[in-house]
Amino acid sequence: MRGGAVAGVVRSGRGTLVRTLAFVFLATFLWLQLHVVSLTGRSLPSSSSANETLFALVPQELHRFLKERRNATVPGNSTGTLSEQEILDIRRQIQRVNEEQRVFNEEAFGPLASDAPVIVVQVHARLSYLRHLIVSLAQARGIEQALLVFSHDVWNPDINYLVQSVDFCRVMQIFYPHSIQTHPRTFPGEDPNDCPRNIHKDQLVNALNLKCINAKHPDLYGHYREAKFTQTKHHWWWKANRVFDQLTVTRNHTGMVLFLEEDHYVAEDFLHVLRLMERTCRHSCERCNVLSLGTYIKTYSYYDEGSRKYLGVNSALQKELLRGLKRQDSLAESAGQTFQGQAAPVWAFQLLPSLYNHYQKAEVTPWISSKHNMGMAFNRITWNELRKCGMQFCSYDDYNWDWSLQHVGQSCLPPSRGAGAAPRVDSGLVAMVMRAPRVFHIGECGVHHKKNNCESNAVIAKVQSVLKAARKHLFPMQLTLTIAAVAKKTKLRKGNGGWGDIRDHELCWNITMYPDLSLP
Ligand SMILES: *[C@@H]1O[C@H](CO)[C@@H](O)[C@H](O)[C@H]1NC(C)=O
Ligand SMILES: *[C@@H]1O[C@H](CO)[C@@H](O)[C@H](O)[C@H]1NC(C)=O
Ligand SMILES: *[C@@H]1O[C@H](CO)[C@@H](O)[C@H](O)[C@H]1NC(C)=O
Ligand SMILES: *[C@@H]1O[C@H](CO)[C@@H](O)[C@H](O)[C@H]1NC(C)=O
Ligand SMILES: *[C@@H]1O[C@H](CO)[C@@H](O)[C@H](O)[C@H]1NC(C)=O
Repeated sequence: MRGGAVAGVVRSGRGTLVRTLAFVFLATFLWLQLHVVSLTGRSLPSSSSANETLFALVPQELHRFLKERRNATVPGNSTGTLSEQEILDIRRQIQRVNEEQRVFNEEAFGPLASDAPVIVVQVHARLSYLRHLIVSLAQARGIEQALLVFSHDVWNPDINYLVQSVDFCRVMQIFYPHSIQTHPRTFPGEDPNDCPRNIHKDQLVNALNLKCINAKHPDLYGHYREAKFTQTKHHWWWKANRVFDQLTVTRNHTGMVLFLEEDHYVAEDFLHVLRLMERTCRHSCERCNVLSLGTYIKTYSYYDEGSRKYLGVNSALQKELLRGLKRQDSLAESAGQTFQGQAAPVWAFQLLPSLYNHYQKAEVTPWISSKHNMGMAFNRITWNELRKCGMQFCSYDDYNWDWSLQHVGQSCLPPSRGAGAAPRVDSGLVAMVMRAPRVFHIGECGVHHKKNNCESNAVIAKVQSVLKAARKHLFPMQLTLTIAAVAKKTKLRKGNGGWGDIRDHELCWNITMYPDLSLP
């Protein structure tokens, strides 16, 4: 629940229902404010002052990352479509940059140590979120030791300008070469002769009659591929292959590779915690092969797009919420989508108590995609195992990279043996997860949300305040490990679909087999 949304409801104030809801929100809001005040002595910003707070909590010298370039450019004409010539130019540029493998700021920071953290950020087109991620990275202690790799699937001069203005560590840009932007009318983009998504199984005959290209390859739920949904998984797989196996700068790298997205935000001790987790793994948890710095909070308020209601944070509502989640999940499954895209969980205010109580606790648990996909890190040893399972990753009928990874963990990697008191788990991916997150999701509005304040200021301001309040608790000296109770054997899940097309399987597989395909 965001302050902005609350204010919006109060203002509009029409009808009893709205007023009742507004009251509930306000009560919850005040309750939380009180708690926050009691913990910090100051209140979280309201949405109206969010913008000021946003700048107030960012050191002056970093404001430059938040400001738009004076003559910002948008590629393409007013319709947003690129001409053939523009596409050719972009392809050429991408090829040049990918071949060049330039590391910016290497003169200032020297060669990368083989055990230094490599941070890979998957960037699509959300420039305003990326600005804040960069601001947070700039303030992280130890960032000067890291290599920051931005992996793009859109060539955008403004994004390039921003990324190249980063001067606080080594920076590299890589460009996913099979993007929709550079292949708008042909696979992996959308070919005019592709079958439309919604031809159902019983109409398969139609598809065959239509003679559309992929008639024989609908997904598990009878739907045909949608280019924009498949791109993210391809991009994820491509950048992992690229960073571990193809770049010169990381050829001898033995340390952690941390995966972030453009709408994440990091705490200033995230690299310290990453190193701490790495050490703790070596000494106390040999079977841990994935680290997770961000975790969704167990109790969160929840905005339901369908009923347009906010669910609050007390325990009765929590139960409802969990039921709702399950329901959404199964609905989504039959529709061939995960709940994640439909109604994003909102971590909201519950974060603060959690951060206070658990700032140095970590949990060992089988890696679960929906819980541990944020701010995850692994090293080359884990990657080599994963790459051997490329076939399973690439042919599993699920367009989500994280669900595909979980599937690989359960069906292809050797299951982790429990050593000593540790229980045996049936996944080959065992995660060490921070209880109090060091990576936050600020882009929760997602693509479905049209609210104007959604450009995230209130959310970001809250994360900033929370981190400021928690400041003296950051940088723990050591971690306390707990072993999660492991559920009985988890069933292998049917995929979420969206990945039935053999062209997608083949492209994904080619990415591992033929690295030279990195040229568009
Ligand atoms: C927030 O602040 C920035 C920079 O001062 C300004 O450009 C922008 O218009 C402000 N946005 C709102 C919603 O006030
Ligand atoms: C503005 O655009 C001009 C021409 O396109 C370019 O030469 C100049 O460097 C740009 N200025 C900035 C601040 O990017
Ligand atoms: C924009 O580009 C598209 C594709 O090249 C072209 O068909 C269209 O006429 C262009 N529109 C304008 C206003 O230039
Ligand atoms: C990687 O290690 C090899 C052998 O030790 C060395 O020759 C090579 O220069 C190293 N490459 C990089 C990029 O550090
Ligand atoms: C995969 O690679 C093979 C061999 O280079 C090529 O013939 C095929 O077209 C590629 N498929 C895709 C979907 O990229």
